[in-house]
Amino acid sequence: MLSVQNLHKSYKVGNEKYEVLKGVSLEVQKGEFVGVMGPSGSGKSTLLNCISCYIPSDSGKIELGDTNLATLDEESMAHVRNEKLGFVFQDFLLLDGLTIRDNIMLPRIIGEKISTSMEKSANLLCDLFGISHIKNKYPADVSGGEKQRTAVARALINNPELILADEPTGNLDSKSAQAVIDAFLRAKNELSATIFMVTHDSFAASFCDRVVILKDGNVRKTLVRGNQERRTFQDALLDAIRELSEVKGE
Ligand SMILES: Nc1ncnc2c1ncn2[C@@H]1O[C@H](COP(=O)(O)OP(=O)(O)OP(=O)(O)O)[C@@H](O)[C@H]1O
Ligand SMILES: [Mg+2]
Repeated sequence: MLSVQNLHKSYKVGNEKYEVLKGVSLEVQKGEFVGVMGPSGSGKSTLLNCISCYIPSDSGKIELGDTNLATLDEESMAHVRNEKLGFVFQDFLLLDGLTIRDNIMLPRIIGEKISTSMEKSANLLCDLFGISHIKNKYPADVSGGEKQRTAVARALINNPELILADEPTGNLDSKSAQAVIDAFLRAKNELSATIFMVTHDSFAASFCDRVVILKDGNVRKTLVRGNQERRTFQDALLDAIRELSEVKGE
């Protein structure tokens, strides 16, 4: 469903060129919840931004279904972003002047006129994520966890093929983080959503089906949860990260 092959990306700063992604390859299957971990500066956000079509990559392939995202023109890119991808960011990015319900409907409002089916979908998502009671409130008047669940609902309103999330629990206390992860799991289990989540948080990552660990511009390890207990998987993730950072310290 998502296939990244031999992806390269460098940034130019002055006359220097920094290679951040050095041939990253990975796959995400439909309905999978995949995490990306790795040290700060390892290129996690860069990878996500390339898949999001926010920044161009230097070479390699990014295929979403039959579409190669790496070679799209601007119009097609905008279409893919609005119709096929859903986004959740660390700082929510809700619009303060819109109610929670209108924020959720925003991607649909951009594409078409307000319809009753749109309101119906927004109501269903609010029920699913336990935010129906705050539908008519404004972002300033709800908690961080509620804001992020709103952002997850917004990401799902167009039934995207893939949800991309960069540190969705990064600004949240552990209880709110749990509520957001629950929202992702509900999206996966009840709406067959496919989720690709960058995170520093081994707790959040331990709910994933699979976690890819990036380091020095490459995928260094992939851990599969299988039927492990969540806690056992979290320990395995922590061990893998410790192991990779020890190599660096040599
Ligand atoms: N626009 C840019 N111009 C130049 N260098 C950049 C740019 N964006 C990121 N970088 C550099 O590329 C490297 C990877 O950055 P990236 O944001 O992808 O890392 P990350 O793994 O998401 O880190 P973090 O965990 O801190 O969010 C870093 O060294 C960063 O300084
Ligand atoms: Mg980042």
